[in-house]
Amino acid sequence: MPLKISIIGAGYIGLVTAACLAKDGFEVVCVEKDGAKLQLLKKGEVPFHEPGLKDLLRAGTASKKLEFTSDIEQAINVSRFFFICVGTPSLATGQADLSQVYSAVKDIYQKVKSDSIIVMKSTVPPGTGLRLIDEIWQNHKNGAKIDYVSNPEFLREGQAINDWQKPDRVVIGADNSEAAEAVKSLYKNIQAPMIITDITSAEIIKYASNAFLTMKVSYINEIANLCEVVSANIDDVSHAIGLDKRIGKSFLKAGIGWGGSCFPKDTRGLDFLSAQYGYDFHLLKASIRVNANQRLRVVHKLLQGLKSLPDKKIAVLGLAFKPETDDVRESISLDLINILLKEGAVIRAFDPIANENAKKVLPVDEKLVYAETAYEAVEGCEAIVLATEWPVFIDMDWQKIKNSMLAPFLIIDGRNCLNPRTIKEIGFNYKAIGRERDFDKNIT
Ligand code: UDX
Repeated sequence: MPLKISIIGAGYIGLVTAACLAKDGFEVVCVEKDGAKLQLLKKGEVPFHEPGLKDLLRAGTASKKLEFTSDIEQAINVSRFFFICVGTPSLATGQADLSQVYSAVKDIYQKVKSDSIIVMKSTVPPGTGLRLIDEIWQNHKNGAKIDYVSNPEFLREGQAINDWQKPDRVVIGADNSEAAEAVKSLYKNIQAPMIITDITSAEIIKYASNAFLTMKVSYINEIANLCEVVSANIDDVSHAIGLDKRIGKSFLKAGIGWGGSCFPKDTRGLDFLSAQYGYDFHLLKASIRVNANQRLRVVHKLLQGLKSLPDKKIAVLGLAFKPETDDVRESISLDLINILLKEGAVIRAFDPIANENAKKVLPVDEKLVYAETAYEAVEGCEAIVLATEWPVFIDMDWQKIKNSMLAPFLIIDGRNCLNPRTIKEIGFNYKAIGRERDFDKNIT
């Protein structure tokens, strides 16, 4: 019986899964249709930034545990497990586009000749697994047994390898214990609670986790907005409420909102799915609405500080949706730039590694330039928006920055990551999210 593991799709999830399973000693074949991407991977390069991934992939290919191919048939003939790691982007309605998932599953059930297990890593709406099983049942005729297991991923970009190796839990949704145990055996080196459940519950666990985290961030952002109104300090509030173990410290960092390849898409997808079933998910809707408004508060703060926006020169530092990634998908920063350009501002943008990806979304024009360094970006600007909390921004020579700027030396610290006292003492007009007024009161 074939024993290898096929990974269908060499994106973030696919490559991290492939590299980590190969490191754990499994024989892995990674199938990628995109010829250019495949060539890059075969040369030991990774098409995006993810710390530690390149080394792990190279180690996998060097040990011959990991290979890449574009030929799904080659993978099918040697594999027992098929990890589906393809994209499920949003359609215009918010619904998850499952065309890549359906196509990958079809490829497998049409070609597979021996007993196999399809392992769904891609985020698919609750109910999808049962529909796919139905489709396999109706169309797969050659007698080989195909099991289907939902095994959602919880990998964060920037720390995906660590998240794979030290997960908070592994979720396995199956309709029979044999298939569940087979998938569980692939996690033999992982010390974490194994949650074995039914397929639909596994699917909803993924959406419920992401939606909950977005609600936590939207909630702290609303508390931060309230702190601004009543002159309180969100840093202290967030720290103190996070010490309550029932609440927990993480995802309580106030800022300009959540973005990325998962949270916006998954919240929209869950909202769409709820509506399809006639259920109005109020909390989820509120979380999405708060997030859409949060970025606008930056625009208002700029307006307050600069009096008007047309032709004002504004530096935007940080374009990736968060630090340690070059991913700009649904980055709040890019959306802000778009809004400010529409208002007539002149933008000088910079990110340590995401400039090129940002240019593909917002091309250079007479009102938008991309700088080579943060120092170059701020030259001659009246304001800075710090949109991504890259550590290099925090450690910059802020005196030098002020010297190259023009009055009113406005900084909107959209991630509450700078030291307000130092920045104010240099002479900046410092504004953040829920923390600036308290700083005024406390200065000694
Ligand atoms: C997320 C989930 O965490 C992961 O489990 C899932 O599988 C994929 O989606 P990721 O998109 O990599 O991971 O980003 P994450 O670190 O979760 O941050 C998401 C967004 O929330 C970012 O824009 C970040 O800036 C924002 N955020 C996060 C906050 O604004 N405040 C916080 O306290 C935490």
